Amino acid sequence: MPLSSTDSQLITATAEFIREKFLHEGTGHDWEHIRRVWQVARRLAAQTPAADPLVTELGALLHDVADWKFHDGDEEAGPRAARAWLSSQGAALAVMDAVEAIIREISFKGLGVPTPMSSIEGELVQDADRLDAIGAIGVARAFAYGGHKNRPLHDPAVPPVRHDSFESYKQNTAPTINHFHEKLLHLRERMNTDAARRVADERHAYMEQFLAQFLREWAGEDV
Ligand code: ADP
Ligand code: NI
Repeated sequence: MPLSSTDSQLITATAEFIREKFLHEGTGHDWEHIRRVWQVARRLAAQTPAADPLVTELGALLHDVADWKFHDGDEEAGPRAARAWLSSQGAALAVMDAVEAIIREISFKGLGVPTPMSSIEGELVQDADRLDAIGAIGVARAFAYGGHKNRPLHDPAVPPVRHDSFESYKQNTAPTINHFHEKLLHLRERMNTDAARRVADERHAYMEQFLAQFLREWAGEDV
């Protein structure tokens, strides 16, 4: 189902709103992250007849609008900000509800915490967001985030932890290498769609290769 011109205008206005907001962000949650998630989600939606392209694209564009990680752990900041924006643009109630649900449900909350999405559009946006957390870009983003938080790259004395609650995951301050074991290496198996899982396979393999090489160099085994 092609987008109406009103829908296209809402997407363009939302992209511009988010681009300006995130242009100078340095933690790996920048506009280019949003743009990649948007484009990947759009492509996944084009292969999924049941998915509403408007909700998918708005969900992708707004998914990090006010992430709890940067708002004192406030999980409602994102859904609230998205609703305020869409309401200011005169979006339909059903669209606002659907986008708000995506933002509320999308985040990873620890390995032991299931994060099911209640809509097909949400599944696509979550897959697109998670694809951007793995592979070469995923590696770069993890260290950008770790640097922003002043975390060491690696500390063999700190073992990875399995977070069984969102509280425990939120409070985590471990070295960045641990984040691969606590989250990134598990994203492939948590993809919602086969199309995303196929992409994840290659990105996952690349990440494993990176980790093996990192540890070899850390130990000086390649010298
Ligand atoms: P999510 O909504 O699942 O948290 P985001 O799109 O907000 O995903 O992006 C999370 C990004 O931040 C990922 O690239 C991830 O690697 C990075 N990140 C989050 N927490 C950490 C951490 N503790 N150490 C390193 N990187 C992290
Ligand atoms: Ni994101």
